Amino acid sequence: MKFDIITIFPNIFDGFLTESLLARAQKLGIIKIGIHNLRKWTTDRHQKVDDKPFGGGVGMVMKVEPIFKAVRSLRPDKKTRVILFSPRGKKLDQKTAKRLSKYQQLILICGRYEGVDERVAEYIANEVISIGDYVLNGGEVATIVVIEAVSRMIPGFIAKQESALKFDHAQYTRPEIVEIKKGGKIKRLKVPAVLLSGDHAKIEKWRKKHGALT
Ligand SMILES: C[S@@+](CC[C@H](N)C(=O)[O-])C[C@H]1O[C@@H](n2cnc3c(N)ncnc32)[C@H](O)[C@@H]1O
Repeated sequence: MKFDIITIFPNIFDGFLTESLLARAQKLGIIKIGIHNLRKWTTDRHQKVDDKPFGGGVGMVMKVEPIFKAVRSLRPDKKTRVILFSPRGKKLDQKTAKRLSKYQQLILICGRYEGVDERVAEYIANEVISIGDYVLNGGEVATIVVIEAVSRMIPGFIAKQESALKFDHAQYTRPEIVEIKKGGKIKRLKVPAVLLSGDHAKIEKWRKKHGALT
């Protein structure tokens, strides 16, 4: 799987994509990540990627042509999915991440400013994704979220594939009792006794009950 990121802030990705499991997966050739500066596909001296909105309004809008050229130069084919990020897009969930993991290439377009000329959503992107009902400064954080969620669905990315899809139950580790001072009093924080019982049927039942945080 190849992820191709189109952004005007390529340095944002430094660090995040070169640490931990994402770094390992790239070393092993499980995933590849290309970071492309959109300004490379501009033709003017100032490398302009934005312009004023038609009809008036505040701020600037990202132009179609550099994005069109960038996507075309990354040679999308039938096994490519072109994704635009927008808070108005379809909300990302686990099912979407799994579906996207079946493509050979994802081209991820990061918006900035007041957004992206709508023709990118209409004619260039295959789908428009939001990572939640809030407005971010740009699509870069959304890109990182998608890369991480999708990568976890790719065989070999994490050691125990069965844990890739699970929304885990509550977890505890050593020590069995932790003492903390709260409001001048010592509180003893204990691990639920059932988890120390060795009774696997009871543990399984407890885990099912303690799946979601409230
Ligand atoms: C400041 S936002 C633009 C907000 C604009 N009013 C709109 O509705 O698209 C700039 C860019 O950040 C990205 N973005 C912001 N919020 C997002 C979200 N919740 N999910 C995905 N991308 C988001 C998009 O790429 C967007 O074009």
